[in-house]
Amino acid sequence: MLSLPSLLTSRVEAAAGIDPEMRPATKPQFGHFQSNVALRLAKSEGRPPREVAARLVAEIDVADLCEPLEIAGPGFINVRIKASVLAQVASELMNDPNTGIDKAERPEVVVIDYSAPNVAKPMHVGNLRSTIIGDCFNRVLTAQGHRVIPQNHIGDWGTQFGMLVEQILFEGADASAMTLDDSVALYRRAQAHFKDDADWADAARRRVVALQSGDPQTREIWQQLIEVSKLGFNEAYDRLGVLLTDEHLAGESIYNADLPAVAADLEARGIGVIDDGALCVYVDGMDAPMIVRKSDGGFGYGATDLAAIRYRMGTLHADRLIYVVGMPQAFHFEQVFGVARKAGYLPDGVRAEHVGFGSVLGADGKMLRTREGGTVTLTYLLDQAEEVAARPVAMAAIKYSDLSNSLHKDYVFDLDRMTATTGNTGPYLQYAHARASRILRNAAELGLTVPAAVTVLDAPEEQALALLLSRFGEVVAEVGENLQPHKLCAYLYDLATAMSVFYEQCPVLKSDGEVRASRLALCATTKKVLAVGLGLLGIEAPDAM
Ligand code: ARG
Repeated sequence: MLSLPSLLTSRVEAAAGIDPEMRPATKPQFGHFQSNVALRLAKSEGRPPREVAARLVAEIDVADLCEPLEIAGPGFINVRIKASVLAQVASELMNDPNTGIDKAERPEVVVIDYSAPNVAKPMHVGNLRSTIIGDCFNRVLTAQGHRVIPQNHIGDWGTQFGMLVEQILFEGADASAMTLDDSVALYRRAQAHFKDDADWADAARRRVVALQSGDPQTREIWQQLIEVSKLGFNEAYDRLGVLLTDEHLAGESIYNADLPAVAADLEARGIGVIDDGALCVYVDGMDAPMIVRKSDGGFGYGATDLAAIRYRMGTLHADRLIYVVGMPQAFHFEQVFGVARKAGYLPDGVRAEHVGFGSVLGADGKMLRTREGGTVTLTYLLDQAEEVAARPVAMAAIKYSDLSNSLHKDYVFDLDRMTATTGNTGPYLQYAHARASRILRNAAELGLTVPAAVTVLDAPEEQALALLLSRFGEVVAEVGENLQPHKLCAYLYDLATAMSVFYEQCPVLKSDGEVRASRLALCATTKKVLAVGLGLLGIEAPDAM
């Protein structure tokens, strides 16, 4: 559904030949939009601006959408959308099962790599941000009719498992009875052990070989460690209410078998070269080569990502690849994409995007720490938020903070601000939704039914609200394209604000007749858009708060 502002822009542009740069009018008496296009054209044409404006007004074909255009001041063109058009658009939205979100003309298979915590390591704030942002992309793209395949690329492979398994055997511990926290503590003990005892360190190294060569006992304990971590991850996902399940697990280890083939392929085709014993791929314009296989024969993190791309293309048939991983890995993905393109694993028509994000800071502007000064785990963070607010509100507060700034920016974890029901916060949006719900509940108690259409929109506050509602589909489309959830957050914030102005200026239950009926319909439509919009952010929309 094309939004009214866009439709208007294209009509004015058709007459003016340049972007009219329609701006929201600053005062209600100027209508809804204002353009200075005549002033700009006048300069280049060397004619009086008002004369140019008059010519444009005669040419612009918007009689179906707008009241007669007006020329103001030195030559501004003022535009007022017809109330009947606004009402019609709001009514369509109200009855559209997809709430104005266009289904993609060519649906794509979109693989989103997100969350990706590491086994036997605490889930940290970076995993949290990745999980929340990836969940939002999943929801937005799914709403647009794409087939989203989440891939949770957990860190379930690597030399650390030699140490972990060896420590379990050393302690005679039962890995299957552990929690994620136990395994994290075990990892710490193993690291200390490794440092202090050279003989034991050798045993841990031999254990890596045993793991790689498939020694049954080693593999069993390794598997148990993964299970323990999975339980911990799933607990966090449940709490967050994200869509990830075990079905989306595709950890690093599943690519092991393909790594020698990737290396052999790169080498055979002359794309990879041996440099100091290591297999490297050089890509034009890149600062450093990717080391696919180290000189000791071990494969790097990059090799696994190349194998993952082959799987995502060859088996999952992806049309688009999205990686939601912190900014420090930007260069890694530049390398992976560069090498994959060079090797032909990633065809030209397939978009591969690394969506990086910033850190979460403490009130002091430094890296967030626990009260005791330790590293903040995801659980600690969620616990803190739930101390201040009930779960749906706490999660809304965290998710909205994660999504409402441009992703690459750091943000300050300030719970009082984040959970406030005033200001630009998740709970404020929930509150606006709950308020709309309450009006509708009260109406139902009075025996009033909400009509299926918005019919009268005389008040400027009603019109402003309807105008905003018309933009929803376009905003969602933009997020699906550019992966910038803050645009949707900003939109919903504007909508909630417009709703609250409407609520203050336009009595709903205290008005009567058709005005009351139409206002109820407008409330219902706003509630619907807020709920769907929050849903796309992964935020619950309670009916009461
Ligand atoms: N496990 C990694 C980490 O914690 C993130 C993995 C991101 N995804 C990927 N395909 N490399 O840093």
